Amino acid sequence: MEIKLDRQYLKGYIEDKDYTKLLPEIRKAHDQLENKTGKGAEFTGWLDLPQRTKDPSLDELMKLGEEIRANSDCLLSIGIGGSYIGIKASLEFLISDQKLPVEFAGHNLSSGYLYYLLKQLENKDITVVVISKSGTTTEPALAFRIVKKFMEKKYAAKELKKRIICITDAGKGALRNIADKEGYRSFPINNDVGGRFSILTPAGLVPLAIAGLDVKGLIKGARDAQTHCSKMDLDTNIAYQYAAARSLLYRQGKTIEVLSTFYQRLSYVEEWWKQLFGESEGKDGKGIFPTSLSFTTDLHSMGQLIQEGTRNMFETFLLVDQSGKGVVIPKDKENLDNFNCVAGQDLDYVNRQAHKATAKAHYDGGVPNMTITVPRFDAHSLGQLYYFFEKAVAIKGYLLGVNPFNQPGVEAYKKNMFTLLGRK
Ligand code: PA5
Repeated sequence: MEIKLDRQYLKGYIEDKDYTKLLPEIRKAHDQLENKTGKGAEFTGWLDLPQRTKDPSLDELMKLGEEIRANSDCLLSIGIGGSYIGIKASLEFLISDQKLPVEFAGHNLSSGYLYYLLKQLENKDITVVVISKSGTTTEPALAFRIVKKFMEKKYAAKELKKRIICITDAGKGALRNIADKEGYRSFPINNDVGGRFSILTPAGLVPLAIAGLDVKGLIKGARDAQTHCSKMDLDTNIAYQYAAARSLLYRQGKTIEVLSTFYQRLSYVEEWWKQLFGESEGKDGKGIFPTSLSFTTDLHSMGQLIQEGTRNMFETFLLVDQSGKGVVIPKDKENLDNFNCVAGQDLDYVNRQAHKATAKAHYDGGVPNMTITVPRFDAHSLGQLYYFFEKAVAIKGYLLGVNPFNQPGVEAYKKNMFTLLGRK
């Protein structure tokens, strides 16, 4: 495992003896998860998914990707929540590897958004991937209705069939019925994996393979993390260390976790993390509120609150080790801005000093913090990171005593909306 977790700035909040005291609870959570005896065990298919996913199936996806890229200018991916955020996060993280532009729909109900998007796609050849595990979610269902009409006007029936792909439950749901009736190409989503854990299932892999990303590298990274994170060893298993630290901080009244990054390319990884942790922990009147900031931009706005506001938070920094791009700061003869001290350095060097300065300042200001560092902006690193977070939240959910794999709360607004819309 190449991901590193630095906990030096937890000192004074968590000592070694606290971890030792928590150990029996971690062992219990570990056993419940690995033996599938805990709450929501029917949705723990993600646990060994990386090692169950075989290379030939990934080769097939990559072949499909090549085929689609040969006749498309753009991929339109329709979905919301777990059927959207992870794809967006992966594309942003791996932007330099992307071979086909990807647009998104079905993740909001804004008519202006869809109007301008379809206008922009009018003269382009597109392939549509519609993703919905349940097959019944309002936002993607309505977006697909509208996009389907748009595609029917654009392409004859035979061509249309090649340009629409449905990713949904193998046997039930409205999207499954549409796919079967219309004869669209389809991929089943594993029914033992919940939406927010689905980035390594066809729900994530198919669009990423079409975009030309290295899905094999992604799964290889996740496999490596699976091996590392399955060991019941708090001295080495960093997913368990992260879960334990979060749990101990929560018990001290730290009810907000800020995930802070220093790279724009991580902004949707933060969104993915928020969904994973918010939906998994936030129930039964419990849970840490996950929020995120983008530094150094937000240091000039929210930095004040972190430094001196209510002391109910902790922070997790997310860094990428090899992130420099050779943007060197030039030497200036006049040195009027007095920055010749960093002349000759990559701008990334200054970014790293900003992280060090921030971690210490926030710690000194009463915000305990940790730093997660992934090696590179590549698929292998991202696969490791996804699995690391999935494993950590599952253990943390069991430490909290909740079912980390359901989301009963998201139904409440849907019921009200169906009543308002008159939908049965
Ligand atoms: O975590 C979840 O299960 C949700 O966020 C879902 O991913 C989201 O509601 C979309 O659901 P579906 O894929 O069934 O359309």
